[in-house]
Amino acid sequence: MLAAPLQPGKRISRAETDATMFDGGMEIRTCSERDLELLREEWPTPDDIAGAHYAQQQSNTATFLVAWEANGPLGWALIQWRGCVGANAKTAFPDCIEVNHLQVRPEHRGRGAGTAILTTAEEQARDRGITQLAVSVTAENTAAARLYRRLGYQPTGVVDVCSYRWRDDQGSWHDETESSELLVKEL
Ligand SMILES: CC(C)(COP(=O)(O)OP(=O)(O)OC[C@H]1O[C@@H](n2cnc3c(N)ncnc32)[C@H](O)[C@@H]1OP(=O)(O)O)[C@@H](O)C(=O)NCCC(=O)NCCS
Repeated sequence: MLAAPLQPGKRISRAETDATMFDGGMEIRTCSERDLELLREEWPTPDDIAGAHYAQQQSNTATFLVAWEANGPLGWALIQWRGCVGANAKTAFPDCIEVNHLQVRPEHRGRGAGTAILTTAEEQARDRGITQLAVSVTAENTAAARLYRRLGYQPTGVVDVCSYRWRDDQGSWHDETESSELLVKEL
């Protein structure tokens, strides 16, 4: 049975615990130590991606936002408070901050979690007086690009290339080189 759709963008309350609640029972909150334990149990990844994201938050450079519903985590993203990650993006948009590592678990895609994570990030950025928020996307990632365009992120023509290694569920390493375009939204 398909899980019930959430209603993205419809925030019903904002608790003092730094959590943003959405209709349908989804909550977006800044990852706590307890949340990290739950993520490691319920959304295990080959290289402890949640642990790496949490370490960035602990170094005060990022906020690790996680979407939850009663039966577990749905997705996550990092708000990079030090600005755009790519060198070209940082030069072109020095006052812009970036949301990266947006990911929703495959079985929960299309239910509004990605939208809710991004709108929560926008709200946190506005709270800090930030006026521009960016995401970056590869030309092949049409699903993410559609979501970003729908939410008002505009293409800039600014491209950065990054190379990285990742390990799949079978333990094999892959080398990737990606070109991503920066998309920017005025908040
Ligand atoms: C890109 C990604 C994060 C989007 O997350 P998501 O939770 O599926 O996003 P949403 O549900 O908010 O929006 C996606 C689509 O679902 C639809 N949707 C949103 N809420 C919905 C609802 N309540 N009911 C039905 N459909 C809904 C939206 O209309 C949207 O359609 P679109 O293709 O026209 O934009 C997810 O696909 C993902 O994790 N992809 C792999 C990793 C990745 O590419 N990350 C981005 C790197 S740049």
